[in-house]
Amino acid sequence: LNILVIHGPNLNLLGQRETNIYGSTTLGQINDLLEREAQSLDVSVSTIQSNSEGELVDAIQSCLGKYQGSILNAAAYTHTSVAIRDAIAAVSLPTVEVHLSNIYRRESFRHHSYIAPVVLGQISGFGARSYLLGLHALVGYLKDSNL
Ligand code: DQA
Repeated sequence: LNILVIHGPNLNLLGQRETNIYGSTTLGQINDLLEREAQSLDVSVSTIQSNSEGELVDAIQSCLGKYQGSILNAAAYTHTSVAIRDAIAAVSLPTVEVHLSNIYRRESFRHHSYIAPVVLGQISGFGARSYLLGLHALVGYLKDSNL
């Protein structure tokens, strides 16, 4: 199984950005943790980060034929992007939405996700661990459906 992990805007600054909210783990460390977890689950992960909405749409489209599922932290685009939602719906591959912070206990503009209705499920609030939980959930789902 090949899984693409997609990180959205400002997540390249993890480790220095609002550490009281997002923690001190850097994006590189999160990617290392994901790779290690993937090995133990006997799957392979690739990772990509972009600050631009169009590149995230391209990344989602690029999954077709290459990846069996994806883990997506669309960051602020979660709350604004119909284009990213439509890309997920278009490729129709299982996607797990993850957030480091619990978006429901923050400002009200973060309470709505355009992406939530088109994903397999959402994990929010467990810091870097949200990604690992997302990976486990996705791999479990894919193995169950025998893909
Ligand atoms: C985030 C939550 C978003 O509201 C925010 O814009 C982010 C990160 C998270 O992982 O907690 O940039 O997706």
